[in-house]
Amino acid sequence: EFHLHPKDAHLPSAGLVGKFDRQQLQRGLKVYQEVCAACHSLKFVSFRDFEQLGYSEGQVKALAQAWPIEQPSVNPDTGEAATRKNIPSDRVPSPYPNEVAARAANNNALPPDLSLMTKARHDGANYVASLLTGYQNQPAELLRKFPDAKTPTGLHYNPYFANLNIAMPPPLTSDGQVTYDDGTQPTKQQMANDVAAFLTWTAEPNLESRHGAGLATVIFLAIFVFLTIGAYRNVWRGVK
Ligand code: HEM
Repeated sequence: EFHLHPKDAHLPSAGLVGKFDRQQLQRGLKVYQEVCAACHSLKFVSFRDFEQLGYSEGQVKALAQAWPIEQPSVNPDTGEAATRKNIPSDRVPSPYPNEVAARAANNNALPPDLSLMTKARHDGANYVASLLTGYQNQPAELLRKFPDAKTPTGLHYNPYFANLNIAMPPPLTSDGQVTYDDGTQPTKQQMANDVAAFLTWTAEPNLESRHGAGLATVIFLAIFVFLTIGAYRNVWRGVK
């Protein structure tokens, strides 16, 4: 009864014929880059895929070069672990060399790869937006009913998370945390919606052509229905 269903984030990609808003996807990438990338990878996304968001080849190259998390690599002289700058064909990396290091940095929790997160969770895009804006104090009602359910130290109460206590500290803490280039106000809600839109794209970059095919199919079938009705009437016209 304390667990909440995601709120509708009204993303333009939602619905049967929804489309992405490229400006919004670019803003979402920026939120991911400046906030989420500190803990989460996008291992099914290459930097060159960002050309689909409206960036040129040169811009993608520069973006990869300047990316805050570098690729794991090996120093060729000493054989020691090192990092190198990203190139467009690289996948968007995890900041951690392995799971042990990731857990060590996160209270023993593991920040999951976010590439397919909006598909992995029910109502994924809305879920991500709600989760990011859903952090709050535990309701007094809950503690009265279940005194043992107090959020343990190191976890954070969030009614949208399946078990109510999530290891991820609130990533979006203040308005203006990310600076937008297109004049949009970076409120917490806006940043949450934008990164949810971006993660909808990472999980299904061809969503628009799927929606387009669905629409074309429905139009085709609608015409076909009228032809069928016409043919039926024609065939049976003379019969009483
Ligand atoms: C889990 C999104 C930033 C650490 C998650 C989950 C999502 C998510 C969708 C999965 C929740 C689930 O399992 O249902 C994001 C987004 C971020 C962000 C969109 C940026 C806006 C961060 C940052 C950190 C972090 C900066 C590290 C300081 C974690 C951890 C988990 C997690 C440790 C696992 C939580 C658990 O299983 O209890 N995040 N995250 N996240 N995230 Fe983030």
